[in-house]
Amino acid sequence: NNSEAEKMIKVHELLKKMYHHLLLNTKEGQNALNYLLHRGFTKELIDQFEIGYALDSWDFSLKYLLKKGFELPLLEKTGLIIRSESNGSFFDRFRNRIMFPVKDAQGRTVAFSGRSLGNKQPKYLNSPETKIFNKGRILYNFHQARPFIRRKQEAVLFEGFADVISSVHAGIEHSVATMGTALTEEQVKLLARSGGTVVICYDSDSAGIEAAFRASKLLVEAGCNVRIAKMPEGLDPDDYIRTYGKEKFKNDVIGASLSLMAFKMEYFRKGKNLQDEGDRARYIQEVLNELSSLPSGIEQELYITQLSEEFSVLKETLMAELRNINKRKR
Ligand code: UTP
Ligand code: MN
Ligand code: MN
Ligand code: MN
Ligand code: MN
Repeated sequence: NNSEAEKMIKVHELLKKMYHHLLLNTKEGQNALNYLLHRGFTKELIDQFEIGYALDSWDFSLKYLLKKGFELPLLEKTGLIIRSESNGSFFDRFRNRIMFPVKDAQGRTVAFSGRSLGNKQPKYLNSPETKIFNKGRILYNFHQARPFIRRKQEAVLFEGFADVISSVHAGIEHSVATMGTALTEEQVKLLARSGGTVVICYDSDSAGIEAAFRASKLLVEAGCNVRIAKMPEGLDPDDYIRTYGKEKFKNDVIGASLSLMAFKMEYFRKGKNLQDEGDRARYIQEVLNELSSLPSGIEQELYITQLSEEFSVLKETLMAELRNINKRKR
């Protein structure tokens, strides 16, 4: 029922404040705070994103929440407290982790993700799915980003928490992230409803590029205009900002993002020798294939003109091939 969901949110709100306090004001939180400051998270960012610290304790949160008057069955439902299968005792899910509150579109804290301080796995431990938390329906930072997305008619989509936080720090306030999973239809709807353009800014490894292609397909189908921001290989957006600075990120990454088509054309060129007729023909074929799924005839025509000029192939020949592809598709 409703009041149960409300209580579960209350639990999250209380713990969020407690974790934030533990990070900033206690000796136990010093290590975690140093880690964050060392990584380049400022005090302002820690406040804005309400980042916290869960103590290295099996029952600190449990005792705190019981003292606040919540009952065990409810606490278990939040996923923050776990019941041991072997002996039935209760313990904290999050221990010795930096805590990122995860908020719904209304800004209510409905889950946490806890980052380990060292190399302990998993790197990020997430709340389980609960009555109030469905990972596939939430975009990290959507609540704060939404008015900026509306105003700019654009959103920037990242893979991770740190990417969003660094990007906001760089002045790109319309930044959101999926939490390590593939973009879902529900998340696409959130983005499509509030803005026209989505700039995908994923990690530049092969996993990131493939994920960007999958995400872009869904976004295009939902009517979004997709652009892709590129990063040098081996860096994620947060690394990039810390290495090269805010201005360079704004100008050379976000500002230099490519239309999806231009990005794909660049991608198809990789590993090909365009002096070679065979490679050239394959390249043109791949581009035409891609063009055939563009909804706008005008855009198709523009790219056809470009191809025709670059490779000295008659526009009529390219058009005829495009029609052939369309026929085969039907
Ligand atoms: P990354 O591995 O790229 O982490 O995962 P990151 O964001 O760069 O983290 P830092 O910079 O090392 O702190 C991208 C996102 O995938 C999710 C998190 O949301 C993370 O931000 N993820 C990753 C998990 O949920 N669990 C994991 O164990 C790892
Ligand atoms: Mn604060
Ligand atoms: Mn990655
Ligand atoms: Mn990353
Ligand atoms: Mn990172």
